[in-house]
Amino acid sequence: MAGINFKGTEQIWFDGKMVPFEKAQVHVLSHVVHYGSSIFEGARCYDTPRGPAVFRLKDHSKRIYNGCKIYRIEVPFTKQQIDDAVVEVVKVNGFRSAYLRPIVFRGYGGLGVNPAGCPVHVVVAACEMGDYLAGAANGVKVQVSSWTRMAPNTFPAMAKSGANYMNSQLIKMEAIANGFVEGIALDAFGYVCEGSGENIFLVKDGKVFTPPVGASILVGITRDSIIKLIKESELELVERNIAREELYIADEVFFTGSAAEVTPIVEIDHIGIGEGKPGPVTMQLKEKFFAIINGESPDKWNWLTYVNEY
Ligand SMILES: Cc1ncc(COP(=O)(O)O)c(C=O)c1O
Repeated sequence: MAGINFKGTEQIWFDGKMVPFEKAQVHVLSHVVHYGSSIFEGARCYDTPRGPAVFRLKDHSKRIYNGCKIYRIEVPFTKQQIDDAVVEVVKVNGFRSAYLRPIVFRGYGGLGVNPAGCPVHVVVAACEMGDYLAGAANGVKVQVSSWTRMAPNTFPAMAKSGANYMNSQLIKMEAIANGFVEGIALDAFGYVCEGSGENIFLVKDGKVFTPPVGASILVGITRDSIIKLIKESELELVERNIAREELYIADEVFFTGSAAEVTPIVEIDHIGIGEGKPGPVTMQLKEKFFAIINGESPDKWNWLTYVNEY
């Protein structure tokens, strides 16, 4: 089943302790429930010949801390403690592969918009997960959203905050209502930005294009991984603003994300992309990416943290 659900999860790390799934609860008057005051991560752990391995563990905890710094959230645990918790939830739940969800959020302590006095909680949960986007292997059909991604200096796009995902929900729900699996949002200036939960790349005449950091994107860890793979290949990477119409006339378009991994896009707004099937550059990058995360190619950037050797 596509998507994220925690049906097989038994234990969740909650403020330093493992608690049973049913007991991992917060008060309805928690600041986060009313104002979206959270910073979270989505990461994956892969089944490798050396056992489960978390992909880019330290980069995810770094991004949480950066998001918390932007939002003036003092995290009551160190990066190392959060990394340890991620590894621990994989172990105690007995997962060989998993989707990982660390989250830092403001709890109950008053409901003024000013969060002063609200305690900060940290939770790390894990669940088993296959493809995030339904039909990912054969390529997905998507739309350009009627919703715009947040403008610069409104919600900081570089912080993976819960509040940003109200915008993502609008993009996602509209796409599904219209019969697509995902939407691509434009930025406030009308340039291509990202999917509701993915970065985007397009291939044209042997060059690979992706929107720059300043285009209100979440600076994806998978995006960075794919950029590294492009730079070590014969392909040329171009980070620049992308006009909407460039999507329709691209040779290939694909999403990247911890959940979506590398997902080819075969149709946008009912217009076939390239030959209307996953293209060769997308597939080549996807294969290289999976060869590393499955432990088949050398892990030259030290992307994997082996749970059993931790
Ligand atoms: C809005 C958005 N953009 C991009 C991404 C991809 O980021 P990453 O590759 O770090 O998962 C995500 C997923 O976390 C996302 O939610």
